[in-house]
Amino acid sequence: MNCLIIYSHPNPASFNHAIKEALVKSLKEKGKNVRTRDLYAMRFDPVLKADDFETLSRDKTPRDIEIEQEHIRWADVLVFIYPIWWAGMPAITRGYVDRVLIKGFAYEETPQGSKGLLQAKKVYIINTMGAPLSVYEEMGIFKAMDMIYDQQLFGFCGFKVLGHKYFGSVQSVSDEERKQMLAEIDGIVAGFEG
Ligand SMILES: Cc1cc2nc3c(=O)[nH]c(=O)nc-3n(C[C@H](O)[C@H](O)[C@H](O)COP(=O)(O)O)c2cc1C
Repeated sequence: MNCLIIYSHPNPASFNHAIKEALVKSLKEKGKNVRTRDLYAMRFDPVLKADDFETLSRDKTPRDIEIEQEHIRWADVLVFIYPIWWAGMPAITRGYVDRVLIKGFAYEETPQGSKGLLQAKKVYIINTMGAPLSVYEEMGIFKAMDMIYDQQLFGFCGFKVLGHKYFGSVQSVSDEERKQMLAEIDGIVAGFEG
């Protein structure tokens, strides 16, 4: 199984980084092939520009985007790891989505409506949050994010969403609780087989 990690965090001392490391370790122990796209480390350009539209209008894809699409073609499972910022994705992750998951690669328009082209792929999303899980649950934000991301973004492109894991209160819990969170990663990876 080929697993592609799309990782967005600028700080190597972050909890997101620890999650990424735990995930890579667990995947490798289980014999999976792993590639990581560390968007900040790569200095990924997240801004969709007039140039991009111009290139795409000539049936060409900008080279940096072609490279990312090749990684996605290679992958059976994509795992997105990012913190929740302003109740959503960090701008760099959102820009990756804007520029990489484009028409003709991720979806197409048909007379019957839009059709996802990445139906053979699976995706799992791992997020950290400052807020407690109960607050987002009560406010309906998880439900909103499920609709916006799992259904309208990944589902729209045809991905089968294997799961969406939120780790809440990550800044305020104890080191022991954070260790327990990291220990959950093995179980998440075990679920990729199904
Ligand atoms: C710009 C910014 C926006 C944030 N917005 C939210 C938010 O909307 N909801 C939330 O629960 N936490 C929010 N946070 C807190 C982060 O989710 C939290 O710092 C992160 O998950 C901790 O993981 P880390 O140590 O890997 O950065 C925000 C943090 C930053 C820097």
